[in-house]
Amino acid sequence: MNPIFNNKVFIYNLQKLKLTKTFIYPPLLLIKNNKMSFKYEMPVKLHIGNGEFNKIGKYIKQDFNVKNILLVTEKVLMEKLELKERLLKQLKDCNLTIFEYVEPNPHSKIIEKGKRLAQKNKIELIIAIGGGSAMDTGKAIAMLMTNAGTINDYIHKRRIIGRESIPLIAIPTTSGTGSEVTIASVITDEETGIKMGIRSEYMYPNIAIIDPELTLTMPKHITAHTGYDVLAQAVESCLSNSNKNPISKMFALKAITMVFDNLKTAVDQPENIDARTNMALASLYAGLAFTQTGTVGPHSFSCPLTTFHNINHGYACILPLPAFLNIYAEKCGKEVKNEILEMANVVDCKTVEEFGNKMKKLIKDTGEKTRLSELGITQDDKARIIKNTMDVLTGRDPIEITEEVVGMVFDETF
Ligand SMILES: [Fe+2]
Repeated sequence: MNPIFNNKVFIYNLQKLKLTKTFIYPPLLLIKNNKMSFKYEMPVKLHIGNGEFNKIGKYIKQDFNVKNILLVTEKVLMEKLELKERLLKQLKDCNLTIFEYVEPNPHSKIIEKGKRLAQKNKIELIIAIGGGSAMDTGKAIAMLMTNAGTINDYIHKRRIIGRESIPLIAIPTTSGTGSEVTIASVITDEETGIKMGIRSEYMYPNIAIIDPELTLTMPKHITAHTGYDVLAQAVESCLSNSNKNPISKMFALKAITMVFDNLKTAVDQPENIDARTNMALASLYAGLAFTQTGTVGPHSFSCPLTTFHNINHGYACILPLPAFLNIYAEKCGKEVKNEILEMANVVDCKTVEEFGNKMKKLIKDTGEKTRLSELGITQDDKARIIKNTMDVLTGRDPIEITEEVVGMVFDETF
């Protein structure tokens, strides 16, 4: 191959000749000016399709040699999806232990309780079935089976995760968090009320089974709230200053269009399997985007709304999103504004404001309110919301998030 047309070979040749500093040639200039450099990692094996859950026994046999398995889930799903019966049928040669105490926004005490049960039963593999809370609980327990200390040691970043977790199979029953393909587990320290994401490459599930049939019984408001989470995660991943890349952006833009095209139908017609399938894929795509980039301001702002005002995670994320977009567009300069306009354009919006209004319309069309004041939040809550948001900033926003910025978001969303 002619080195002139192959930058890698060309540079190698220049280095060999020690000419890199003096030899200027267009291909080299092209590389010097090209800012593209990124990593895309996604080690989760995906099984996607209606009825895939019924093949879990086969998938476990294929990939793992294990006997002692822990199911991590919520009580309500045990009955609704007949999990015990279906799993026992699939896992005839295994010992199945059940931990059905998963709660929304899992607290560290629940994780520790699950860890003790797993240790007592010498668990070798975890199956986490449910929404983000179940999968995050499963991830945390799997991690603590091989890493010493308590979950609180990791929440506050005092401890580094140095060992691979025991195998984990993540099975979402909502279409929202994307936790089945993400690096993070979000846990709340019950003493401080601080909700923190623990991120480690060792926390990726080994397998994700995405079976849209499992989402058919999801209640309307959970369908809406988890769908909002997909939208917020996709939008935020395009605004993160950490490892945003063409692949994450491609997934994010697709997720954004799919939410606007399918969420209302999934809410209005819960048994519409096409809308459910598309939302399951949208959730997956958003997960594939934001596991690379992390989230930004709206997710931070959602923490006090969830912790102190009991607003579901996804709903709490989308409420401040339009206000954040306006502030980013105004304060960050052309590049970020164009990024937002690019997202707006994929859903036929021409301005940042129009994009925000389209989100608010989607919230209303799916049965929810758009203002904090309509949800029982008062001006007296403002200081605490600002403080807690500042405590959980991710450091990935395209501008420095100050108390003043968070206050502006509060006022605009109030
Ligand atoms: Fe989220």
